Amino acid sequence: MTSINISYSNAQLRCLAESASLQLGLPLINIDNADKPDSQNSLKSTDYSLHFSLDGLSLVSNTKNSHGAIRCDFAAGPNRHRRNFGGGNGQMIAKAVGVSGKFYPLVLDLTAGMGADSFILASLGCRLKLLERNPIVYRLLQDGLSRAATAGRDEPALAEIIDRIKLLEGDSSTHLKGLQAIDYPDIIYLDPMFPTRKKSAQVKKDMQALHSIVGADEDADILLEKALSKAKYRVVVKRPAYSEFLANTKPSYSLEGKSTRYDIFALQKIPK
Ligand SMILES: C[S@@+](CC[C@H](N)C(=O)[O-])C[C@H]1O[C@@H](n2cnc3c(N)ncnc32)[C@H](O)[C@@H]1O
Repeated sequence: MTSINISYSNAQLRCLAESASLQLGLPLINIDNADKPDSQNSLKSTDYSLHFSLDGLSLVSNTKNSHGAIRCDFAAGPNRHRRNFGGGNGQMIAKAVGVSGKFYPLVLDLTAGMGADSFILASLGCRLKLLERNPIVYRLLQDGLSRAATAGRDEPALAEIIDRIKLLEGDSSTHLKGLQAIDYPDIIYLDPMFPTRKKSAQVKKDMQALHSIVGADEDADILLEKALSKAKYRVVVKRPAYSEFLANTKPSYSLEGKSTRYDIFALQKIPK
């Protein structure tokens, strides 16, 4: 089982780190004391640290030669690049949810993860409601959104995108159960963690890290069944190419890419 501690590197962050440590029931380490034997032992004996620094929250591997720190960054890096050069409404994900110049759906993302897919959809004009149940992933995403909102003070276009995203912590099955007809979203989006392939070079190290923390989403079949009765227009499922259908249920049609496939369950015609 993957072990995690909470660490911080600046006294200003102590309160935040302490409260996360209490809420998550994980041990707390002050990195400034990392040369002390006690701290060294705790660092070595845990696989990961959820690390508070003045640059934001990140997940850091305590194993040598592992991946770099994992964090959500919407103002820079791959998320920014894809927002600017990803291909707009021509991207597979955009076609899958049906976003167009005339249709900007409200999308309920049942499996938020690090928020990359939702950020693309929000940057295309969709409104997003995200649910994440893993408390570590939820905190990383919450921190990324909050830093992006701060960066948005100097970049109104980014601020507008972040304004369209609402993140909730919790289990999507429970959320769907309590959803009243008046609140049904236009589109429900699902990208569950796929059962592990072997630690191949094909699976990036940071994805392997997230996988080891979240595990496989074994209840994804049930989530799809519930989603099908709660979306207005479509349920969209993201899967690795060549994988079987979720819940063994054939979609209306699929969009196939090199490594990813979108299965689309069409429930009603999208307004033109
Ligand atoms: C493969 S990741 C999603 C990646 C995401 N699409 C992105 O772009 O970053 C799957 C995530 O869904 C979350 N998840 C799976 N089932 C869930 C459920 N029933 N309720 C809430 N979150 C769930 C997992 O904890 C995990 O973080």
